[in-house]
Amino acid sequence: MVNVLDEQSTVANRLLAELRDVHRQQDRSRFRFNLERLGELMAYEISSSFRFKVQNVTTPLGTRNIGLPEVPVLVTILRAGLPFFQGFQRIFDQSEAGFIGAWREEGKHEPSITMSYQALPAVEGRVVILIDPMLATGKSLLRATEGILRRGRPAHLHIASLVAAPEGIDQLESAGLENTTLWTWSVDERLDDRFYIVPGLGDAGDLCFGEKE
Ligand code: URA
Repeated sequence: MVNVLDEQSTVANRLLAELRDVHRQQDRSRFRFNLERLGELMAYEISSSFRFKVQNVTTPLGTRNIGLPEVPVLVTILRAGLPFFQGFQRIFDQSEAGFIGAWREEGKHEPSITMSYQALPAVEGRVVILIDPMLATGKSLLRATEGILRRGRPAHLHIASLVAAPEGIDQLESAGLENTTLWTWSVDERLDDRFYIVPGLGDAGDLCFGEKE
């Protein structure tokens, strides 16, 4: 299932517009800050799909039953995922977190993904959110998902992206992952010949942290 969040005109669209804007995105600190804020807003959206437990809370004047959503495990892919992940972590502040290192070889051929690092908490039977802002070919997300599934079967896997290309969505859908929901703020037009998302926003990792050599 795919949930596309920019179909409603919310304040999130203003943040996404700033991220995309070739001039405004030069402010690296603001770029990271906007990614964090979109992470917070998406965490809120995803939490509305969670099961919850009712807890009775005592106020100075009475009591009230409140439905509290379950606490997910957060996993992100280094390095571009970090600010988006931090937004999720601020909302799910009791969550355990996992990290996966993946990079893609740039060029005109379909990028190959190298996985270099994986540190994951237990995932068996738990709700897991895999956070990666740019869903381009879908290869690194699929490799990360395989890494998670080798550790255990989550009760549900939410894949959280900011901007997705139709090719990446197709790739995830054709993998036939069970109990998985994809969330994205936007579905863009296509990939270019370097496998960047068009119009997208550019290289999210470079915009957050500076160009790699
Ligand atoms: N990664 C990015 O940072 N941008 C893209 O457009 C595709 C992958």
